[in-house]
Amino acid sequence: MNDDLDRIMAVMAAAFDPLWGEAWTRRQVADSLMLPTVFYRLIGPDGESVIDGQPAAGFTLTRNVAGEEELLLIAVEPANRGTGLGRKLLQYLAQDAKARGADRLFLEMRSSNPAERLYREFGFVPMGTRPDYYSLRDGTKLDAITFAKQL
Ligand SMILES: CC(C)(COP(=O)(O)OP(=O)(O)OC[C@H]1O[C@@H](n2cnc3c(N)ncnc32)[C@H](O)[C@@H]1OP(=O)(O)O)[C@@H](O)C(=O)NCCC(=O)NCCS
Repeated sequence: MNDDLDRIMAVMAAAFDPLWGEAWTRRQVADSLMLPTVFYRLIGPDGESVIDGQPAAGFTLTRNVAGEEELLLIAVEPANRGTGLGRKLLQYLAQDAKARGADRLFLEMRSSNPAERLYREFGFVPMGTRPDYYSLRDGTKLDAITFAKQL
C-alpha cells in the first residue's frame, strides 16, 4: 500500500497545476484510504495494471456510498496523456463500481476543465451547477458542474 501511495503522489505532483489548488496532500490521500468506502485504481503506461517496482501513469480515487460511486480524483501523468489512459481509467471505474454494487457514477468538476470532453464522451450527463464554487489561487472563481452516469 505504501508503494501505491508513492505512485499516486508521484502522478498527483505531476498532473495538477498548482493554480487550481486541486491536488491532495499525501496525508489527505492516506487518510481517505483508511475509509472502507474509498477506493483507488492505478494504471500503467500500457493501460494495464502497474508492474512491481514500476511507477504508475495514472490513477483514480473514488468513494462508494449508497449505490453511487463518486469520482474524487482522476489524473494521468502529462507525458502519458492523449493516449486513451483517461478513458481506460473511466472504463475500469465503471467496471469496479458495478462490482462494488453501484448503479450510478457521479462527479463534480470545475467549469472549463478540458476533462469535460472525456466525461461527456464516456456518457456522463450534466446534472447541475454550483456557481462560483471553486476559488483558484489567483482569485478567479469558477462554477462547479456535477455529472452523473447510469451504469
Ligand atoms: C483529464 C485527464 C485525466 C485525461 O487523461 P488522458 O489520458 O489524456 O485522456 P484520454 O487520452 O483518455 O482522452 C480521452 C478523450 O478526452 C478528451 N480530452 C482529454 N484531455 C483533453 C484535453 N486536455 N483537451 C481536450 N480534450 C481532452 C478528448 O476528447 C480525448 O479523446 P480523443 O483522444 O479521441 O481526442 C488528464 O488530462 C489529467 O490528468 N488532467 C489533469 C488532472 C485533472 O484535471 N483531472 C480532472 C479533475 S480531478
